Amino acid sequence: MRVLGIETSCDETGVALFDSERGLLGDALYSQVDMHAEYGGVVPELASRDHVRKLIPLIREVLAESGQTLSDIDAIAYTAGPGLIGALMVGASTGRALALSLGIPAIAVHHMEGHLLAPMLEETPPEFPFVALLVSGGHTQLVQVDGIGQYSLLGESLDDAAGEAFDKAAKMLGLDYPGGPLIAKLATTGDRSRFTFPRPMTDRPGLDFSFSGLKTFTLNTVNAHRDEAGEIDPQTLADIAAAFEEAVVDTLAIKCRRALQQTGYRQLVIAGGVSANARLREKLAVVVEKERSKLFYARPKFCTDNGAMIAYAGCQRLLAGQQSDLTILARPRWPMDTLPPL
Ligand code: KG4
Ligand code: ZN
Repeated sequence: MRVLGIETSCDETGVALFDSERGLLGDALYSQVDMHAEYGGVVPELASRDHVRKLIPLIREVLAESGQTLSDIDAIAYTAGPGLIGALMVGASTGRALALSLGIPAIAVHHMEGHLLAPMLEETPPEFPFVALLVSGGHTQLVQVDGIGQYSLLGESLDDAAGEAFDKAAKMLGLDYPGGPLIAKLATTGDRSRFTFPRPMTDRPGLDFSFSGLKTFTLNTVNAHRDEAGEIDPQTLADIAAAFEEAVVDTLAIKCRRALQQTGYRQLVIAGGVSANARLREKLAVVVEKERSKLFYARPKFCTDNGAMIAYAGCQRLLAGQQSDLTILARPRWPMDTLPPL
């Protein structure tokens, strides 16, 4: 089965063609980050308009690159949520209409299920059951995964998502949006031991997270090191970036270890934009070794938003006989544990 995947939930237009026999045939991404950087965050209306401009050309590009035509597509998977309503509507209406005109099924895919299953596109995929850490710009969740659609929430952030915390801290350090990769880069030149930031909610049992306090801590540290002209020396900025990253990554690692111990599962999957973070991967490699477990993640371009994860997730559900009706489904909020099992 050949499935065209469409992702437009936020600020990246992603398209991919996945073949259940041959794997990924092609994928393309157009990132809007440069357009939004000027505003320090995603401007929803600009995002929707840009998806309108880029989606059809990207579909054409993926088909051409994979040597396929519209008539070679067996089904269409589109991201139906969670995300920005206007942005979702572009992918949902295009995907649904294209499927209708081609006389093929369409399936509405949950964006976080897409992230969760993205490591399945790699050479050594995880096998069910496993523990998943979903860390993106909008979500931080620990999930017990017993199969596709069999998700039990173990813990989640009570305030900011990890990616959101990276983005906000980056702003305080004078870095652009999205801040995660920029903090990670700056942190490599910083001294991780000069400042010690708190590891929120690790001193009590449970698997929930809270990152908003780290933001305040970052702001206070930045302000405490301004000179009379309000400037901060570049090395101090790098040291703060390193301390911040270390605190977030350590906190995530502590909770992942607890989740492995609590479930007794031996596989840990990390997914979503923050799972591209090299320091997080490094720390979790130590955790899984101690817990005699294995760590899985997607290649960096499939950690952040992309069409391949949507094509893959949609394909698994379609192969199990599921499909969506003619409704153009777009749900800005959509709890993942309400999804049907296969
Ligand atoms: O999954 P994603 O592309 O979009 C959402 O579904 O939200 O995640 C984007 C988030 C942003 O907050 C970005 O700063 C963060 O992932 N991110 C990173 C890294 N790469 C992306 N955070 C830390 N380190 C990175 N290397
Ligand atoms: Zn995402």
